[in-house]
Amino acid sequence: MKVTIVGSGYVGLVTGACFSEVGINVVCVDIDSKKIDNLNKGIIPIYEPGLEEMLMRNMKKGRLSFTTNIAEAIKDSEVLFISVGTPPDEDGSADLKYVLAVARDCGKNMDDYLLVVTKSTVPVGTSEKVKNAIQEELNKRKVNIAFNVASNPEFLKEGAAIADFLKPDRIVIGLDSQRAEDLMKSLYKPFTLNGHPLIFMDIVSAEMTKYAANAMLATKISFINDIANLCEIVGADINLVRNGIGSDSRIGNKFIYPGIGYGGSCFPKDVQALIRTGSEYKYELRILKAVEDVNNDQKLVIFNKINKYFNGNLNDKTIAIWGLSFKPQTDDMREAPALKIVKKLLEAGAKVKVYDPVAMEEAKHHFGDSISYYDDQHETLIDADCLAILTEWPEFKFPNFKIVSKLLNSPAIFDGRNIYDKNEMREHGFDYFCIGVDTTKNLIASSSIN
Ligand code: UDX
Repeated sequence: MKVTIVGSGYVGLVTGACFSEVGINVVCVDIDSKKIDNLNKGIIPIYEPGLEEMLMRNMKKGRLSFTTNIAEAIKDSEVLFISVGTPPDEDGSADLKYVLAVARDCGKNMDDYLLVVTKSTVPVGTSEKVKNAIQEELNKRKVNIAFNVASNPEFLKEGAAIADFLKPDRIVIGLDSQRAEDLMKSLYKPFTLNGHPLIFMDIVSAEMTKYAANAMLATKISFINDIANLCEIVGADINLVRNGIGSDSRIGNKFIYPGIGYGGSCFPKDVQALIRTGSEYKYELRILKAVEDVNNDQKLVIFNKINKYFNGNLNDKTIAIWGLSFKPQTDDMREAPALKIVKKLLEAGAKVKVYDPVAMEEAKHHFGDSISYYDDQHETLIDADCLAILTEWPEFKFPNFKIVSKLLNSPAIFDGRNIYDKNEMREHGFDYFCIGVDTTKNLIASSSIN
């Protein structure tokens, strides 16, 4: 079976790499010829652990190739995945122009049966539009060629995408024909061994599953952040409360870590998109509106703490920041809390010195020369008035606190990811602030670390 993947971005490349890894012949397509040239030379446009090695290995084996020639790729394939971008248009809704252009290309170029699978995260009802676009092109050509559409949303976490693809919690596929089901079963067979389930459903339900999953996860995060803020006020410790509730298997201990709000390319966009779908159908998703509000406020919690510590006067203060990406193991800064926090610090007149293990180049696109960049985390501390942790990169978890304390002007740490133990911080002599814990209070039990 030959598979074409249109859109060589994050999802397309991971999908292409993993399908070819199990021996399937894959052609990855993109309209960006520079990107395709680079990929053919082994230059990968994104940072994702394990991806580069996997792409290179399969290119060498001859079962993975890159091209801009979509017409050729379509003619040769039985299954085609659409994984192009759906950037928000002016009113914030997903712009389907790239998705539908691929659908039209399919209709214009296919000579034989084709299963067209949408992997891009698209609003509920998009597969129907894809189907119509293909059929219109076939009608224009006055040909009668069989095809099917399917929806196969991805649940890949950045930084762990390869593992998520190879050993998925589940694979969700929406379709409306036996032929499509048989094809998808055989394509995904290598990934469903060892009990990873393939869940078939109708197309609209599959489209909805993607949004409902991300909205549920975003809800967990906003819920725990809301509770964290209350913990701090009443003198409870969210780390203990999290352990206390997470051990109830109905709640579970995953995705209830408090922090400075969710970011990334999915949760913010998908929560907004689902709220919009609700309003299109005159249904108000009240919980999700609150999830979004809590998240927007949460992104400023660390700024507010810093501002309060310096009595509302950040003018000429220097703030060292460790971590800029929206989470560890990625250079992605889309919707990262750091964007909002750095902006507020600069507006308040502070100087900002930053270090991130991989997101420095990305950060330069956002902040230019308005902040200073350092290759070493300790260098950010020289002449800084405090340290703020915005991403929980492993290398920040066990610093030499003696050096940190010596380099900082005032011994203040603002930990947006709760990576340190408050008692230990006190022993080191720091003024320590984190999320959901009143760190000025003496609690008997020790706050646990992530
Ligand atoms: C997410 C989904 O997990 C994935 O299934 C979907 O396909 C795409 O969106 P991703 O955006 O890569 O993946 O990141 P994820 O690891 O889910 O984290 C999202 C955000 O939530 C990050 O900003 C992270 O810091 C935050 N988060 C996560 C918390 O604040 N607390 C938690 O307990 C978990």
